[in-house]
Amino acid sequence: MARAVALRITKLVAAKPAAVLGLPTGRTPVRLYAHLRSLFAAGKIDFSRVTTFNLDEFYGLPSDHPASYRSFMEEHLFKHVNLNWRRIHFLNGMDSSPERECRRYEAAIARVGGIDLQILGIGTNGHIGFNEPAPALQSDTHLARLKPETRRSNAMLFDGRVSAVPREALSMGVGTILRARAVVLMANGSRKADAVKATVEGPVTTRMPASLLQLHRNVELILEKAAAPKLHARMR
Ligand code: F6R
Repeated sequence: MARAVALRITKLVAAKPAAVLGLPTGRTPVRLYAHLRSLFAAGKIDFSRVTTFNLDEFYGLPSDHPASYRSFMEEHLFKHVNLNWRRIHFLNGMDSSPERECRRYEAAIARVGGIDLQILGIGTNGHIGFNEPAPALQSDTHLARLKPETRRSNAMLFDGRVSAVPREALSMGVGTILRARAVVLMANGSRKADAVKATVEGPVTTRMPASLLQLHRNVELILEKAAAPKLHARMR
């Protein structure tokens, strides 16, 4: 799965060296970033003109905090490849005005002409970014409240202490994600099987945020077999 997504990114960047990528953090993309590091070391991908926008960041955490998503990206990708730091975009979790910071982010995405390829992971509850299941969702980048299960699954970044996980985060909205020209959703492990099935075969509902991807015309799911057994559709 990780290799397939890494090759997808490599092909895009070969065809469009100034590609704009939307990137996730979490356990799912760890091996994707390892593959990208190897492809870079082997001279197979050049990030010098690539622009990146990360999906989300904890609110109230400085970017250099070891548990920040920015630190995660530095560790797993940024410090190993030739991305130009001026083209790396992150939400600032310390901005005193989240609304202003979210508007700045949307404007920065628009200024570079939008995201070419948005890579996503998926929560066991079907969240994408920090768009948690709810009766209604916000379209644009916004301040989001994290569900207890999402805080639990982020506890590993905070030495296993759920209480240390911030209660809020800044996140691209589903509208931001749907405006990307192409979306790749990655899922691995049997824990994701129900969410994957609901994403593909369930109704389009804000109670399963990933199901909103059904409204996009260029979405690919790249799954590990363990995440796919409940799908009617056969995997390629
Ligand atoms: C991370 C993000 C989240 C994760 C999701 C899956 O930037 O936006 O939506 O993609 O929580 O997390 P893992 O990969 O840890 O299972």
